[in-house]
Amino acid sequence: MTARIVGVGKYLPEKVLTNADLERMVETSEQWIVERTGIRERRLAAEHETAASMGAEAARMALRTAGVGPESVDLVICATMTPDGMFPASASLIQDALGARRAAAFDVNAACVGFLSALATGAQFINAGVYQRVLVVGSEVLSRITNWSDRSTCVLFGDGAGAVVLEAAERGGPKSFFLKSDGGGAKVLYARGPGSSPLSVTEAEGYCIVMNGSEVFRFAVRAMEDAARQAVKAAGLTLDDIAYVVPHQANQRIISAVAKAMRLPADRFIVNVEKYGNTSSASIPLALCEAWEEGKLKDGDHLVFVSFGGGLTWGAAVVDWTAIGAREAASARQDVTQPASA
Ligand code: ACO
Repeated sequence: MTARIVGVGKYLPEKVLTNADLERMVETSEQWIVERTGIRERRLAAEHETAASMGAEAARMALRTAGVGPESVDLVICATMTPDGMFPASASLIQDALGARRAAAFDVNAACVGFLSALATGAQFINAGVYQRVLVVGSEVLSRITNWSDRSTCVLFGDGAGAVVLEAAERGGPKSFFLKSDGGGAKVLYARGPGSSPLSVTEAEGYCIVMNGSEVFRFAVRAMEDAARQAVKAAGLTLDDIAYVVPHQANQRIISAVAKAMRLPADRFIVNVEKYGNTSSASIPLALCEAWEEGKLKDGDHLVFVSFGGGLTWGAAVVDWTAIGAREAASARQDVTQPASA
């Protein structure tokens, strides 16, 4: 049994924050931001929007593209490091908003490796025969943990959500996972939370993202290359077999350096960092959804999802892409799943 991806979705808040806007907020320039990061603009959640509300919108699109209803979902997992609350899980709020009444729900936090970790978790439930259909969401409101007076971080991050529907099937979906953590690197990239010692929460940092950019950069290139190679090997493939790499969208220079290290042409990488910046757990499903919308993905393509983030964490998955859409859903999947209820 495999955990095939049968639906993809995304949600982006309307408000756009451009580099020109940032020039008016901190000592920076359009040229510096584009040259060092490739980012031109990012989205900001409106006051009423949250990880759960944006995640639910992305999930609705994923269910729609899968051609299935919310009541057929067995489990909702939300990857986020900006949850609506310490509890309940944003996944529970998404489950309620969707009307996924039969579903269990929980959140996963592995910083920017959150989506990969949630995907691995959802896939294991399906591979083990426990569940038939799992909704995996990545949703972040990083604008709420961004220090808007720190130019070295505030130019990087954005808000958004992405989602996939996993379903028990005979083929398709993740072939391999490679997930790693080195908590010894916690100090180079972190944001404190309500469980921190009050002594460690300084007024300047509060609960905002704190980062040593150049150390993270060096780690990111090494870690993403290693993770991608390990996942490809574990899947019994070579890099020549890979149609597209869908990397965490942190920085165009990091993605280009990884492509160079892996000796892969730039056009084998799905990149949208220029439009949305770094959306952490949302970045891979957002990029995947847009690649699908643009018609880039073909049935049978081997894809690599690869990411790095706070933890430090890093990881990759090789995923076999299968055609998705309501028609494919109806013809190919009735044997292993319940029919859509909405
Ligand atoms: N505008 C203008 N100048 C800036 C800005 C800015 N926005 N930010 C920093 N600078 C300055 C620095 O102060 C420094 O000035 P100095 O030489 O006078 O001290 C100079 O630019 C160079 O700074 P560096 O940090 O060496 O610049 P670098 O080329 O490394 O680029 C960057 C910085 C873009 C942050 C890069 O290091 C990077 O992308 N690192 C990885 C960050 C990342 O991806 N983090 C997300 C992890 S995922 C997660 O889990 C959240």
